[in-house]
Amino acid sequence: MKRKLALSAVLIASGFTFSTSTMAETPSATMLAYTCVGCHGMNGNSHGPATPSLAGASKDYIIEIMDYYASGERVSTIMGRIAKGYTKEEIEAMAEFFSKQEFVPAKGQKFDAKLAKKGAKLHKKYCEKCHEDGGASSEDDAGILAGQWTPYLKYTLADMMAGKSHMSKKMKKKMKKLHKKAGDAGIEQLLHYYASKK
Ligand code: HEC
Ligand code: HEC
Repeated sequence: MKRKLALSAVLIASGFTFSTSTMAETPSATMLAYTCVGCHGMNGNSHGPATPSLAGASKDYIIEIMDYYASGERVSTIMGRIAKGYTKEEIEAMAEFFSKQEFVPAKGQKFDAKLAKKGAKLHKKYCEKCHEDGGASSEDDAGILAGQWTPYLKYTLADMMAGKSHMSKKMKKKMKKLHKKAGDAGIEQLLHYYASKK
């Protein structure tokens, strides 16, 4: 009897009983995600160009950005309203769903090979530390840049640099250095680099 009690205490402490009961009461992650795919594409790979793909981004990243949209820390055209319409549990379920889908690089994006090559160097120096694998990795909860839609990246960066959207202190420092050194042209080169990643 004592053992049984101890086991259920462990299960409760680990959140096991909590998560099974909430799963029974809320709609499935797939059903919830259906409300997003109209804009973000089937399995979270968007047809662009101003709507980003969500597939393969880390769960924590998606949850954090939804928080920023809801609070206004990241400006948006529509996501602010959408992000406010879901419970924490629902957002976690959707984030889990999209994080497990395979990211497909945006199709048919044009880029200039020379500018992309310059962008690769800038990326390595200023961005690779947190956007690993040339911006293709989602490991540091920083979003996927390689193969993401260029217009989306462009206005997101512009909003960040204008102080309208949240940017981590460390990224801000690097962005400032990059901008001082290479100017707007440097940002263009980075965008060509991310578009070149297929
Ligand atoms: C009506 C179209 C539309 C719908 C529906 C929609 N989104 Fe979005 N989403 C956008 C647009 C456009 C952006 C870019 C920010 C903006 O302007 O609002 C975006 C951006 C995002 C981002 C930022 C991605 C990144 O790489 O930083 C996340 C996360 C996101 N949406 C999640 C969701 C989730 C989860 C749902 C479903 C509950 C959803 N969206 C439904 C259009 C939509
Ligand atoms: C110290 C870590 C760090 C460095 C260095 C860094 N970033 Fe970031 N970046 C982040 C984090 C964390 C996020 C997501 C959270 C947020 O919005 O604040 C992010 C988000 C972004 C986004 C938004 C992605 C999306 O899908 O919405 C872009 C674009 C971006 N970074 C570009 C860059 C570029 C370009 C550089 C180099 C000049 C860079 N970052 C350097 C940590 C970093």
